Amino acid sequence: MRISDTPLIAADVIRARISELARELSAAHGKSPVVFVVVLKGAIVFASDLARAMPGSITLEFVRARSYVGTESTGHVDITDLMDEPVTGKHVVLVEDILDTGRTTSAIMDHLRAQKPARLGLCVLLDKPSRRVVPMTADHAGFTIEDRFVVGYGLDYEEEYRHLPAVHVLEQA
Ligand code: IMP
Ligand code: MG
Repeated sequence: MRISDTPLIAADVIRARISELARELSAAHGKSPVVFVVVLKGAIVFASDLARAMPGSITLEFVRARSYVGTESTGHVDITDLMDEPVTGKHVVLVEDILDTGRTTSAIMDHLRAQKPARLGLCVLLDKPSRRVVPMTADHAGFTIEDRFVVGYGLDYEEEYRHLPAVHVLEQA
């Protein structure tokens, strides 16, 4: 396995899009404080840049989700709730790295919806619509990409490459 020399999405392109997403999100939530529910581990890089681009009050909560082994989605999603308090009555945005089959976000959205938030939205950096198994649409999506396995900017292959500042395609060597 190796990564593409040229990024699929360069760091400055990501930065510019995040400013737009922050504007979209603040328009959607007005002056209400927003809770970002961040999906570990992949969404930490995106969420930290997005939170810092937001003008209003943001608090952070975390959930852990795992469905992938290598480059294969197993179909079973394990959720670990690491939240300090339930999001009942709050404006909530689930922040995820990528919407792929839709199983992970669908399971976490159900988990959060059960806590009766006042508003619940989904914001993803990347969307691979051609891979969808569960019907899911992001309220806010950074980039729509083809069916390629990507790494960097939080996304991993077997825990590697999360720290890369740009998104690269993982190529079979
Ligand atoms: P879903 O449940 O199939 O939508 O998958 C979502 C999760 O799969 C994400 O949180 C990622 O961790 C992982 N994933 C899906 N596609 C990729 C990819 O191209 N690169 C790295 N991780 C991916
Ligand atoms: Mg992952």
